[in-house]
Amino acid sequence: MPPGGRRLLLFHAGSERSPVAISIACVSGKGGVGKTTTCTALAGAFGEMGQRVLAIDVDPQSNLTSGLGFNPYQLERTIVDILVDPGLTPEAVTLATEWEGISLIPACPDLSAVEGEMATTVGRELRLRDALRRGSGLRGYDIVLLDTPPNFGFHTVSALAAASWLLVPLQMSGYAMKGLKEVLRTYHAAREQLNPELRILGLLPTFVNLRTRFSQQMLEGLREIPSLHVFDTVIKVTVKLQETAMAGAPITAYARGSDVAQAYRALAQEILVRAVPPPPPPSQT
Ligand SMILES: Nc1ncnc2c1ncn2[C@@H]1O[C@H](COP(=O)(O)OP(=O)(O)OP(=O)(O)O)[C@@H](O)[C@H]1O
Ligand SMILES: [Mg+2]
Repeated sequence: MPPGGRRLLLFHAGSERSPVAISIACVSGKGGVGKTTTCTALAGAFGEMGQRVLAIDVDPQSNLTSGLGFNPYQLERTIVDILVDPGLTPEAVTLATEWEGISLIPACPDLSAVEGEMATTVGRELRLRDALRRGSGLRGYDIVLLDTPPNFGFHTVSALAAASWLLVPLQMSGYAMKGLKEVLRTYHAAREQLNPELRILGLLPTFVNLRTRFSQQMLEGLREIPSLHVFDTVIKVTVKLQETAMAGAPITAYARGSDVAQAYRALAQEILVRAVPPPPPPSQT
């Protein structure tokens, strides 16, 4: 592990001490706000820190899969297989990426048909969560990142059922606040009906342009919302993120020294501070 890296060892309360990953679903409901970019960049940033990362593509568009260097049309096995075949473990569909410490459960466009095939199954939104628990489950990972489609349908709800944290990228545009209300509604529904452990990790302002008053005012407004955590890190508008998506590599590898790569590294640090519980105080006895 590089100097400064912090290997996470989290433990469930209870008798059996098993390490648990921090699992984060990236959700916005809106398209093109930076969900996939954020998953890819965070995978790169955490991987660099020596964390063992699993990126899971839960979007039929399969952009996380291509963003991490794979062609979604040429894969033998994908997330579809663990959703439809209860005999398969996550390991059976996990790929090692080019970057050390980063693994991927890829998607392919066939994922869009999976919901229809499960139309009558009770508890179908728990199918992904259950699939990820088979075999050794997520035990080998420190960080799990789930990318979701731009809607609140089956795949997004499945990701919310499987994750412990919700991260919301918010594009600093006029409709961001409206989108946020819908995200929160879906979050509360998922918590009540499927996953009481789910918590909001924070809101990430994206496509920020600090030269415009509009972007600044939106940012200030966002930080005034009580009880919602907004990360200190913001992601500015930059053509580098478009280039890196085309190149199929995390920004931390594609433009190592860029400001935006640094921003995502800072975000990764903020996430660790929020998601890793402080150690218990020393016993008095
Ligand atoms: N901060 C940014 N500045 C400029 N371009 C960006 C930024 N973040 C993302 N992009 C680009 O905007 C496009 C949409 O980003 P991305 O795919 O991450 O959004 P998304 O929320 O995952 O979209 P979808 O909902 O369709 O899955 C991509 O081409 C990406 O490269
Ligand atoms: Mg996406």
